[in-house]
Amino acid sequence: MCGIVGYVGPRPATSIVVNGLQRLEYRGYDSAGIAVLHEDRIHVRRDAGKLSNLIALLAQQPIDGNLALGHTRWATHGRPSQQNAHPHSDASGEIVVVQNGIVENYRELRESLQAEGIEFRSETDTEVIVHLLALNYSAAGGLAEAVRKTMGHLKGPSAIVAMTSREPDRLVAARLGNAGGVAIGLGDGETFVASDIPAILEHTRRMVFLEDGQVALITRDGVQVETLAGQAVKPEIHLIPWDPISAAKGEFRHFMQKEIFEQARSVTDTIRGRVDFDAGEVVLGQLNLSPERARSFNRIVIVACGTSAYAGLVGKFLLEAIARIPTEVDYGSEFRYRDPIIDEQTLLLAITQSGETVDTLAAMEEGRNKGAFVVSIVNSIGSQAARVSDGVITMHCGPEIGVASTKAFTTSVVDQYLLALALAQARDSIGPAHRRRLLNDLAHLPRLIGQVLDPNDNALYLDLAERFHGYRNFLFLGRGINYPIALEGALKLKEISYIHAEGYPAGEMKHGPIALIDREMPVVAIAVQDSVYDKMISQIEQVKARSGIVIAVASEGDEFIASKADHVITVPSAPPLLTPVLSVLPLQRLAYEIAVWRGADVDQPRNLAKSVTVE
Ligand code: AGP
Repeated sequence: MCGIVGYVGPRPATSIVVNGLQRLEYRGYDSAGIAVLHEDRIHVRRDAGKLSNLIALLAQQPIDGNLALGHTRWATHGRPSQQNAHPHSDASGEIVVVQNGIVENYRELRESLQAEGIEFRSETDTEVIVHLLALNYSAAGGLAEAVRKTMGHLKGPSAIVAMTSREPDRLVAARLGNAGGVAIGLGDGETFVASDIPAILEHTRRMVFLEDGQVALITRDGVQVETLAGQAVKPEIHLIPWDPISAAKGEFRHFMQKEIFEQARSVTDTIRGRVDFDAGEVVLGQLNLSPERARSFNRIVIVACGTSAYAGLVGKFLLEAIARIPTEVDYGSEFRYRDPIIDEQTLLLAITQSGETVDTLAAMEEGRNKGAFVVSIVNSIGSQAARVSDGVITMHCGPEIGVASTKAFTTSVVDQYLLALALAQARDSIGPAHRRRLLNDLAHLPRLIGQVLDPNDNALYLDLAERFHGYRNFLFLGRGINYPIALEGALKLKEISYIHAEGYPAGEMKHGPIALIDREMPVVAIAVQDSVYDKMISQIEQVKARSGIVIAVASEGDEFIASKADHVITVPSAPPLLTPVLSVLPLQRLAYEIAVWRGADVDQPRNLAKSVTVE
């Protein structure tokens, strides 16, 4: 997922664009570039590597103006290099374009353009766009029309922004399919465009989000939106509730660290305004679900990817225990290829922090086409998932910048708890007294989270990081509702420290993985005092009997576990359905400290992007 930032207005554009790209660097970063209109000519600066390389280049070759367009790239076609970095120019240098997404038919387009004598200077699919723009521009009535015509030739998801020296007062953006967001920020006599909110939030909170098949003409006076067919569209202006500070790191070393430690607040925020604790009722305003339709469901299918899929595995326990509806979970990337049995009595629940994960969006489309009622639990405002859902539960956890998802995981678990209660209410699957008890349990959760995230116990994590940062493999074991937490803990460790880690159902150890156990394979075991505690103890004993090393996540006050495990991290006791929100926290902190110890790029792990908008 690439980062795009553009500006048109009275102020110097270069620093505005570069600062915006810095806030988006987590999205994709193997090259970066900027195009600036200066004295009627477009000047391009771009370089391979991180944004810091572009900043150094600009220091050597400064350029400024009032119209600029920048890009940080996560390579899909063409290796990370200066030549493949965006923006890309046409032969005249008078038109430039940046893109997010993929031109699936770029080979045939490239061949037909080359047959017309057009020379290509990069290996990218994006370059076909700027040459098509140049061809269409001469016949069109301006850049906006040239963009509309060009988008008609492209196959695959694309979000583009273009500018030309012939029209020095505007940018033109367009969106096709699910290629990541296009946010247009409306300032006072100036206008911004970005692929994500944090890039421009410090300048304005008033934003318009482009939808699939739309083109936007962006000038300092505002934006005009049209369909690809040229019909005017009245765009909805959103007021973004996030403050710029919440998008900045503050006193934390990494965004991931900040986001780990703000989970008591983010869980509070996702509950706020949605619960009547006295009446034992949940109100999810954007769910748009009638009691009749809620009572019609005979199954729930959860679709998501990565961490969000693991949150869905926890949600299965919550929805079945509270709403009493059979629930299954599937990866977005698998769901649509198995011809799933879906109908009007299915509730399809998508969980997606970014709201732009293409596999999850495609699964939603599959469900909708087969008649399901589609609900998304989503964090990013104005995202595609929110737009195409019948009902939405916003996470309200503020911008999650770190590529490794943390607060979005815990808030999406809590949102599924709320959804389960809302469904139970509509279907009368559990009585008001039981609902009041479950809500009362929820009311205590933020305080318990705060106890686990006490920075005063950081020495424990630093000690574990010092001991274990050099190991090459880890096994994470969990059982019951904590099995998904073992999967999530393994994912956190592997994606930011690059240590191989595998999450496994503890009961499955004897069916193979126990052959792996030796002193080189640390085992993290989630052994809180719940209904499978005794089983977990015997699993720990099996590991110890084979000279394994055990790091246990245990309940406070459990004296026994210390006699079994080599290292113990405790969490407060909590009702069984809420323990996963607590047991995941030590695993987030452990992964973070090990990655920091290894000098890893915690917020921008290699090969990863915050939102995966390519299949
Ligand atoms: C989690 O740490 C990863 N960054 C990744 O697995 C992520 O959860 C997945 O790509 C889904 O993203 P989404 O929630 O934005 O759809």
